Amino acid sequence: PKKELVQKIASIGKSLEGRELPVIHLSSAGTGKKVIWVSGGQHAREWIAPAAVMYVIDSLVNGYGLNDRITKLLNSFEVVLAPTINPDGYEYSRTRFRYWRKNRRRNADGSFGVDLNRNWDIHWCELGASRSPNSDIYCGAKAASEPEVYQTQVYIKGLNNRVAGLDIHSFGQMVLRNPGWSSIPTIEEAHLRGLGDTMSQAMNAVFGNDYSSDLSSGLYPTGGSMDDWMFYGAGMPGFTVELRDHGQYGFLLPADQIVPTGQEVLA
Ligand code: ARG
Ligand code: ZN
Repeated sequence: PKKELVQKIASIGKSLEGRELPVIHLSSAGTGKKVIWVSGGQHAREWIAPAAVMYVIDSLVNGYGLNDRITKLLNSFEVVLAPTINPDGYEYSRTRFRYWRKNRRRNADGSFGVDLNRNWDIHWCELGASRSPNSDIYCGAKAASEPEVYQTQVYIKGLNNRVAGLDIHSFGQMVLRNPGWSSIPTIEEAHLRGLGDTMSQAMNAVFGNDYSSDLSSGLYPTGGSMDDWMFYGAGMPGFTVELRDHGQYGFLLPADQIVPTGQEVLA
């Protein structure tokens, strides 16, 4: 491992239950580089997302100087990765209920959880979200009410040279570009489509899988989602990437697919 590539290991802050939200900054020497954000684990049951981000961290640190694309990437950019921004939900999924999606907010009606990917401060709860606390797509009491979302918003806004963000989910094998709240493409559609198509093709080139490239709203329109907050709130393209598979195993992706899926994300 090349420790000099690790510019910073920090915590975005604490979850509701007091767990850290870890983040790592990777880059070769030099300041003022453009920043690429990568995060995973907003949804507790999508276990492949944190695992794939961890795989990317390991590959970048160990591949620098050996792999040309990794070397070039870290010479040109600072990559900031947060594998798990919903650690309370992940732990609940791991130990109590495998299909848990939300965080572990205790709601006013006694139910638990806010869908973090409906809680971001952009078109909050306008569509594709629910005001019912027991819903799996509950948007929360107000925009950015959840510490996991609020603190991640603050952290991303503190990244001065940010140029793009990826929010990793599963499943469905899709690269989704802005907008997520409307079916009308953004004024940057040509640019975003180029980026999304290039990413999905890079993922497909690894094992011949079929990751598609689409508008985020093409999956279903939602307000309060991280991809749109990155675009409209943080001024950079925000992609949602849905990892393997197409539904055969769904959230219960077998362990032997963890590394290959990580390789697709690395690409
Ligand atoms: N599966 C993700 C979710 O439900 C997809 C979000 C895509 N983004 C969007 N703005 N529609 O949170
Ligand atoms: Zn998800």
